[in-house]
Amino acid sequence: MPSAHYFPLELQPSNDDQECEEEEQLVDTEHRTSMPSSQYNSHYHPQLADYDNEDRTPELGMAPRLNRSGPGRRRFWLPLLIIVSFCVVFYLMFSSQTFGLRANFDDFEDDYEPHNGQDSLNTHALNESLHICSESYEDRRLYMQDKPRSAYAQMPVIYFVTPTYPRREQIPELTRLAHTLLHVPRIHWLVANDYERCDTFMDILLNRFGIPFTHLSSPMPHKFRSTKPAPRGVANRRAALQWIRQHNLTKGVLYFGDDDNTYDLRLFSEIRQTQRVSMFPVGLIADYAVSGPVVRDVSATIRTYYFEYLSLTYALSLVKGKVVAFLDSWVAGRRWPVDMAGFAVNLAYMSLYPNVNMPYKPGYEEDLFLRSVGLHIDQIEPRGKNCTEILVWHTQTKNKKAPVVRLERKFLDGRSNLGALFRSLKMMGVASVSDTEGPLAIISKNGKGKPHSYFLS
Ligand code: UGA
Ligand code: MN
Repeated sequence: MPSAHYFPLELQPSNDDQECEEEEQLVDTEHRTSMPSSQYNSHYHPQLADYDNEDRTPELGMAPRLNRSGPGRRRFWLPLLIIVSFCVVFYLMFSSQTFGLRANFDDFEDDYEPHNGQDSLNTHALNESLHICSESYEDRRLYMQDKPRSAYAQMPVIYFVTPTYPRREQIPELTRLAHTLLHVPRIHWLVANDYERCDTFMDILLNRFGIPFTHLSSPMPHKFRSTKPAPRGVANRRAALQWIRQHNLTKGVLYFGDDDNTYDLRLFSEIRQTQRVSMFPVGLIADYAVSGPVVRDVSATIRTYYFEYLSLTYALSLVKGKVVAFLDSWVAGRRWPVDMAGFAVNLAYMSLYPNVNMPYKPGYEEDLFLRSVGLHIDQIEPRGKNCTEILVWHTQTKNKKAPVVRLERKFLDGRSNLGALFRSLKMMGVASVSDTEGPLAIISKNGKGKPHSYFLS
C-alpha cells in the first residue's frame, strides 16, 4: 500500500521502460495470458530489469573482456566458466529448494533478501503450512438483499480474504465487516488471523454469522515482526492463496478485503463479474485521499450519450473505458500503484499462473502480486462506472493498547455482571482486570464514586 512511510525501492537509471512499452505493443494479449509470469514480468519493471542485470553481472562483465582478449585468454576463461557452471548446477541440484523440501517459514526466512521483490517472487513460492482452525461451507442465511438465497445460486462465489490480527479493535472490526458481508450473496469469507494459535472466540463469532467461512491461523514469520515497516497481512494473504490453491479453485473471484476498510455493497456486484483483473478507485488513500486507475475513451462517447438522451450516471455505466495509467501519491517505481482493496482477480485467470505470490515486501505487495499474475494494462477491467465511483474506503481505526483496569478479583464473581463482562472483554482482547495494576475502576451512583465494596460485596 501506497503510503508515504514506506521506503521506495532504489530506482537506477534505465531506458528499459521505453523498450518495454515498445515490447508491449508487439506482444499479443492472448499470448500473454498463457505466458508464465517469470518470463513475462522481468521485461517490464525498471527495478526488475536492473535487478536482472545485476543478477547477470558475471556474464555481462565477461562478455566485453572476452571480445577484447585473444585466443590465449579465451583458453583460460573457458575452463573456468565450465567449472563455475558445474558448481552452480551442483548447488541447484542439491539445494532443498530444488527438491521442494522447504516446508516452513524458518527456511523461508533464511532465504529472505530485503529489497528484492523479483527474487521473492520467483524463488519463494507459496508453500506455507496451512492451519485451518475451523470452517463452514454452509450458508445459513435465508434472505440477502430481500431475495431468498436460492435466487443467487448461479452467481460466481467471491472469496473475500481478510487478514486480521489480535488487538483490542479486532472483534469490533470483524463484527462490523461481517454485518456488511451478511448482505452479500455467494461469498466465502477467508479470515486469516495473524496469531500462532486458533482463537476459539473467533470460531464462535464467525460461526454465529451464518456466512460460509474459513478461519486460518497464519502468523507473520517471527523475523518480520521487528522490521519497520512490517509486512502487515502478508502471511495471512499468502495462507489464503495457499488455501485456494489446495482446493484447486478455478471458479469465482478473489478479493483482498482488510478488516478495517469500509465496503459499499455495490462493490460486490461490480467485482463478481471480473473476467481477469478488475480495478476501481479506493477512497482515503495517502496524500490525494484516493488511489485508482486513470480511464480514457470515456468522455467522447459519454458526451454523445449524455447530451443527446441519457443521464450522466447512466451514460457512464454504458461506456467501456480503458485503463491507461494510475493516480496514486506514492509511486516508488511500482508498475501497479494500487491499494490492496482496489482490485479483484478471477480465479480461472489466476490459476494460469502457478507462480502466483505475494512477497513479504512492505509497500510492494499489490505490485508484486499483480506482476505474479502476468497482468497487462490492456486486460484491466475498470469498474465503478469507469472508475468514477468510490466503492471501498481505506478507513483506519485508531489503535490503542488494551487497558488493565484495577478491580479486586474477589468482587468478580456471580454477585454482579462485572465478572462475566470482563471475562468476555479479556477473551476479545479488549481489556483485562488486575488487583494491583492499572487505574482504579470508578464505580459511581448519583455522580459520586464509592468504594467497590459498597456496590459489590
Ligand atoms: C494498507 C493497505 O490497505 C493494506 O492492504 C496493506 O497490507 C498495508 O497498508 C501494508 O502494506 O502495510 P493499512 O491500513 O496501512 O493498510 O494497514 P492495516 O490495516 O494496519 O493492515 C492491513 C491488514 O493486515 C489488516 O487487515 C490488518 O488486520 C492486517 N494486519 C496488520 C495483520 O494481519 N498483522 C499485523 O501485524 C498488522
Ligand atoms: Mn487498514
